[in-house]
Amino acid sequence: KYMTAEPFRIKMVEPITRSTKAQRQQWLQEAGYNAFRLKSEQVYIDCITDSGTSAMSQAQWSAMMMGDEAYAGCRSFYRLEASVQDIFGMPYVQPTHQGRAADYIMTQIYCRPGAYAIGNMHFDTFRGNAEMMGCLPVDYAIAEGMDTASAPHPFKGNIDLNKMQSLIDEKGAENICVCIITITCNNNGGQPVSMQNIREVSALCKKYNIPVVLDSARLAENAYFIKTREPGYENKSIKEITNEMFSYCETATMSSKKDGLVNIGGLFVTRNKSVYEQANQLAIVHEGFITYGGMSGRDMEALAVGLQEACDFDYLDYRIKQVAYLGEKLKERGVPIIEPTGGHGVYVDGRRFFPQIPQSEFPSQRLVCALYEEAGVRAVEIGACAFGSIDKITGEPVYPAIEAMRIAINRRVYTNNHMDVIANALGDIYENRDQYRGMKIVHQGSIQSLRHFTAGFELL
Ligand code: F0G
Repeated sequence: KYMTAEPFRIKMVEPITRSTKAQRQQWLQEAGYNAFRLKSEQVYIDCITDSGTSAMSQAQWSAMMMGDEAYAGCRSFYRLEASVQDIFGMPYVQPTHQGRAADYIMTQIYCRPGAYAIGNMHFDTFRGNAEMMGCLPVDYAIAEGMDTASAPHPFKGNIDLNKMQSLIDEKGAENICVCIITITCNNNGGQPVSMQNIREVSALCKKYNIPVVLDSARLAENAYFIKTREPGYENKSIKEITNEMFSYCETATMSSKKDGLVNIGGLFVTRNKSVYEQANQLAIVHEGFITYGGMSGRDMEALAVGLQEACDFDYLDYRIKQVAYLGEKLKERGVPIIEPTGGHGVYVDGRRFFPQIPQSEFPSQRLVCALYEEAGVRAVEIGACAFGSIDKITGEPVYPAIEAMRIAINRRVYTNNHMDVIANALGDIYENRDQYRGMKIVHQGSIQSLRHFTAGFELL
C-alpha cells in the first residue's frame, strides 16, 4: 500500500527558469499572445504537449550508444522492428521521422479526393494531410465524448456506430476510404477507446470492406484504461491488450514521441504486404531508406527500449495517476474539467470557465494566456482557434464542439509539486474569472486546420 510514489528516482536534472509576472506579460505580448511563439526559456512548467518531451531512462541512454548508423540494414532497425512486432503483433514496420510523416504515407495510400475518412476525432496533422488532398474527415466520437460538460464515461473516445452506419447508408461504402481510430483520443481529453468498440468498429468496416487504421501515439495509455476499466481485461498484461487492439486493424500509424518515450520518431506498421511496399516507396522519397525512414540508428535503439518501458504496468499506473492527481486538485478549486481525466493531460472546459467569452472570442486561448501570465505555465488551446473551420458554402465560421485548454503532462518529467503549482494558479484565475475578456485573431497561416501554430492575437 505504500508503493504509490514514482517508480523511478531522478539521476539527472534540467534547470528551469523562474520569472516575474511583468516579464511574462511582456513576453506574451511579443509572442502575439500565441504560446507556440514563446521561447521555452520563458516558460516555467511546459505543458504545451506531451510529445517528444519524455525523460529517457538509463536503459534508453545506454542503448543509444549501440546505435548502428549504417544506411541500409542497420542492426538498430532490426532491434526496433522486433520490439514493434512484439507490441503491435504485425509483421511490417516502416520507421518515419515522426508521426505526421506516417500520417502522410497513410493518407497517400488510403485516402482520395472527395472520399470520407471516418474517425473518433482525427488529429490535426491527419486533418491537414486530408485537407491538402481534398479527402473529407468526419469525427464520430460518441455524444458523451463530444460534450465537455457531460458526466464521466469510461470510454469517451469510442466511435458512434450508428453515425458510421448512417454515413455508409447515405454516401455508400465505396465513398468511405478509411476508418481511423485514434487511441487514446487526443482531441477530447486523451480519452480511451474500449476494446469492445475497436472490435465492433472493425467488424462494421469489414462488412463494407473499409480498411481500419489505428492512430496509436498513446497505445500503452489506452491499454492501461482497458485493463483498469473494461470487464474481462483486468488480468491481461498490457502487451496482451495492445496485441488484441491491433488485431482489429490493417495498419497503424504512431507518433513515437508519446508512448515511445523518446524525443523524435514515428512508425507505419501494417499486416498488409502490398501496403508495406507502397509505404516503402513513399518513405524512400520523403523520409529515408526503408530501414531508417528519417530516424538515426541511436534514435531507433532508444525507441526499441522506450516502447517496452511504456508497456510496464507500474510506469503506466504512476503516469495515469499523476494526470488524475492534477484533475482532482483542479476540481477541489472548482475548475471545470473534462471528466474523467484521460491519459496524457487535463482538459479545462473553456466555456464553463469563462462563460462571458463567446467562442468567437477564443475563451480557451484566453485561458492559455492567463495561465502563462499567472504562473509561467504553458498549456495549449484546443478549441475555436485550433478546430474552428469555415463553412465552404456560406463562408461563415463554424465552431467546434470541444472548447478546451489542454494541460499536457510530460512523461517522467514533472513532480506533483509542479502539478500543485498548476492547480493553484488555475484556481486563483478561476476565482477572478469575471475580470477576463476575449481575444481576436489578427493574422493566420493559409492552412486553416493548422492556424493555431502561427496565428497572432490581440486582447479585446
Ligand atoms: N496523431 C496523434 C494522435 C497525435 O497526438 C499527434 C501529435 C500526431 C498524430 C502527429 O505526430 O507530432 O510526431 O508528427 N500530437 C502532438 C500533440 C503534437 O501535442 O498532441 P507528430
